[in-house]
Amino acid sequence: MIKKLMAANWKMHKTLREATQNARELVVAIGKNLPPDREVILIPSFTALHGVGEMVAGQEGYFLGAQNFYPAKEGAFTGEISPDQLKDAGCVYALVGHSERRHVLGETDDFLAQKVSFGLEKKLKIIFCVGEKISERKQEQVEEVLTRQLEKGLEKIHKNVSALDLVIAYEPVWAIGTGETAVSEDIVQAHSFIRTKLMDILEQGKQTRILYGGSVKPDNCSSIIGLDNVDGVLVGGASLKADSFSRIVQA
Ligand code: PGA
Repeated sequence: MIKKLMAANWKMHKTLREATQNARELVVAIGKNLPPDREVILIPSFTALHGVGEMVAGQEGYFLGAQNFYPAKEGAFTGEISPDQLKDAGCVYALVGHSERRHVLGETDDFLAQKVSFGLEKKLKIIFCVGEKISERKQEQVEEVLTRQLEKGLEKIHKNVSALDLVIAYEPVWAIGTGETAVSEDIVQAHSFIRTKLMDILEQGKQTRILYGGSVKPDNCSSIIGLDNVDGVLVGGASLKADSFSRIVQA
């Protein structure tokens, strides 16, 4: 069974102690109630990976993820981190192309394509994020933007990549951290468009999971997760507290 993914992106929040405590509280709050068709991915800052990893080690259905990496084995890349180092810290997943990396840190489609392919080569499971800005939505360019991001971002990978190894996250930029969630029709439309594209690009595009992200909260998660082609959620703000994220995971 391909499971739904409930991913918590803690961004640049929490010290080691805070992150570890949050992970512990989450495991306790969920207890034995993790639905069997769901997996939890915790994505803390690099400094907390090891501590959070220890909290979820041996807990069935929990995985550790990283927010970013550099697409090289090793070398003179001051301030960067490699897939091997992340795997050494216990990571199974890594985000690529989060809108903050694209629009705040200036990462290009070409650089992101290198990351997707190098990360997969190094056996990290990749959560590749796509999504349009508000100006692009207003100019009715959603499909154009998604097409460009998907075609470019996935252009360097093998077409037969396993549906277990590559995940897409649709995160409309205007819904991230704003409290503004896309309405169901927008989500269904974007996810169905992404599904069609994935089926064009990849052999297993029909099974590849597509997560929704952007102001997911405990009170809107169950309606979002039930929509067609929504195979999980990527949560920022509402994942920072164990109480709220545990409700999302069980929604
Ligand atoms: P948000 O962030 O849930 O705070 O909107 C989502 C994300 O950035 O992945």
